[in-house]
Amino acid sequence: MDQGLFITLEGIEGAGKSSNIEYIKELLQHHGREIVVTREPGGTELGERIRALLLDTPGVEIPADTETLLMFAARADHLERVVRPALAQGKVVICDRFTDATYAYQGAGRGVGRERVAELENWVQEDFRPQLTLLFDVAANVGLRRAGNRSNPDRFEREDQQFFDAARQAYLNIAAQEPRRVKVINADADPDEVRKQIAEIFQAFFKDS
Ligand code: TMP
Repeated sequence: MDQGLFITLEGIEGAGKSSNIEYIKELLQHHGREIVVTREPGGTELGERIRALLLDTPGVEIPADTETLLMFAARADHLERVVRPALAQGKVVICDRFTDATYAYQGAGRGVGRERVAELENWVQEDFRPQLTLLFDVAANVGLRRAGNRSNPDRFEREDQQFFDAARQAYLNIAAQEPRRVKVINADADPDEVRKQIAEIFQAFFKDS
């Protein structure tokens, strides 16, 4: 395989995706590929500045449409400067969140709607999509309880359970519509069991591809 591979990790707050990145990296290193780990919003200097605005702007309200556009502004920069060049060099790019998060958080959570997110997705990405997405699925109350232990919650972490219920449901709807791309992990399981699920997903993925 000398083509790039774009893998995204998704899930609501407290689902545990970030704590499994190292393990995922290890699994992929066995395939002898160079790996780039990145995140959204962020991953570039400009994207990280947009991220800082999105996650914490004390005293400034960010309307839902503006929030959505900022997510895609950061994404456009990230795609152009980091993701596409790495894939063109045959690297594996592991991205902590991508456009499914916009469907979940802005489309469903903020009520912007699927169609508007889809318009921006098509504009910014054309037909570019991840080859594989791991969805760390956990009930909103469980995720919030885990995330609640974090000090200094950001603008999203301060949202209520209804917001995360909607986001989780949107994620599950995407997984139901795109079962080949989106693999659901029961993230409520203990850490060993979660890692086992991840390993099985990659085994099946590399067998099929
Ligand atoms: P993180 O803390 O998991 O890195 O993600 C930052 C926050 O940004 C997280 O609460 C989810 C949110 N987010 C969106 O609302 N829409 C998006 O498109 C992305 C990529 C992230």
